[in-house]
Amino acid sequence: MVIGGVHAADIADEFGTPVYVTDEQRLRDNYRRIYEAFSKYMDTRVHYACKANTNLAILRILEQEGAGIDAVSIGEVLTCIKAGYSPKRIMYTGVNVSDSELKAVADLGVMINIDSESEMERLARIAPGHQVSFRITPGVGSGHGAKVITGNKGAKFGIPLDKVIPVYSRAEDLGFDIRGIHAHIGSGGQSPEPFADMTEVLIDNVNRLSDLGIKLDFIDIGGGIGVPYRPQEEEMDVGEMAMNITDMITEYTDVKTLVLEPGRYIVCDSTVLLTRVNDIKDAGVKKYVGCDAGFNTLIRPAMYDSYHYAAIANKFGKACTDKFDIVGPICESGDYLARDRPLPDPKEGDIVAIYNAGAYGFSMSSNYNSRPLCREVLVNEGRAELIREAETPEEMWRHQIVPERLSR
Ligand SMILES: Cc1ncc(COP(=O)(O)O)c(C=O)c1O
Repeated sequence: MVIGGVHAADIADEFGTPVYVTDEQRLRDNYRRIYEAFSKYMDTRVHYACKANTNLAILRILEQEGAGIDAVSIGEVLTCIKAGYSPKRIMYTGVNVSDSELKAVADLGVMINIDSESEMERLARIAPGHQVSFRITPGVGSGHGAKVITGNKGAKFGIPLDKVIPVYSRAEDLGFDIRGIHAHIGSGGQSPEPFADMTEVLIDNVNRLSDLGIKLDFIDIGGGIGVPYRPQEEEMDVGEMAMNITDMITEYTDVKTLVLEPGRYIVCDSTVLLTRVNDIKDAGVKKYVGCDAGFNTLIRPAMYDSYHYAAIANKFGKACTDKFDIVGPICESGDYLARDRPLPDPKEGDIVAIYNAGAYGFSMSSNYNSRPLCREVLVNEGRAELIREAETPEEMWRHQIVPERLSR
């Protein structure tokens, strides 16, 4: 198995495991494909949803490509500024955020996408006249599972539909610099229809606001474009989706700019997770391949029952001998990476590659069971470079304080 011109097993040997390995060219290609699909029809800004993966090197690559940023916390905003993004290219979409966070974001000159009436009133006091847009709840949801659907009626996100017009009117009275309207229906949806339905809702609101004299610069359709995780799944046709959505916007509104916020689409299939087999167990009714990565390293299977394709990197193309559960070192039964997978005679020391691990992989990893966060490597044109060191035990406990009275 070769990634970016480098043998996966060599990367595992050189850098150690577990390790996330990102193919730079694939990352660039993904960005260009989505940008070109939409920008050929209308002025488009792609704001990479950096919650999917905030490695500084990955952020640098996307900055070079011309991406903007969708950030959901002051931490993400600061990380992206550190990676070289101008605050003007960042939009902040927080939910249930504090006054101090709003102030910090506003002071940096980052546009704020307001999520609630409460946030609007607080921001009016904190940063009068600030550049804003509003996240609305379109009443359309989509996603790879219930936990990541965000646009449905009654969701915790956004301004409920019946309040959108009064909220924009109030925002005008408060003196905000109103720029746009936003919705995000959820993450990992595989069908284009909900995106079209949401766009219809956004267009309807844009035109009602226009009738009241509130003109918007952009419509932001959020992120959520799904990618195939299973071998038999097909890619969503982003070309057709782009044509339909831009057609609707240009035909029915005067809005000149489209914003989209893909996270998963850009980073997901750029990255594999390599994990070494420590242990093989035949438990009678089940056979286990026990690896050095568990849900501390990749939580998606345990958290969402997500499927990730898995293969043994050093036995690529060999005939499968049996089915195995691929499990990790965490002391919970829910700690698995893949279930019932045909594999070619797995042995201790083999390297398992978990595919499509670039989105919500490292960024959702944790220190559970006091296991240090893992390394990340970037590969390009036959060269592999470390882009994150493995955490040390000292780094894991550096913020903890033992009161003096307990020191003996
Ligand atoms: C507001 C917003 N935009 C964009 C995204 C990115 O979604 P995805 O990675 O599925 O493209 C998310 C993800 O939850 C989000 O909450």
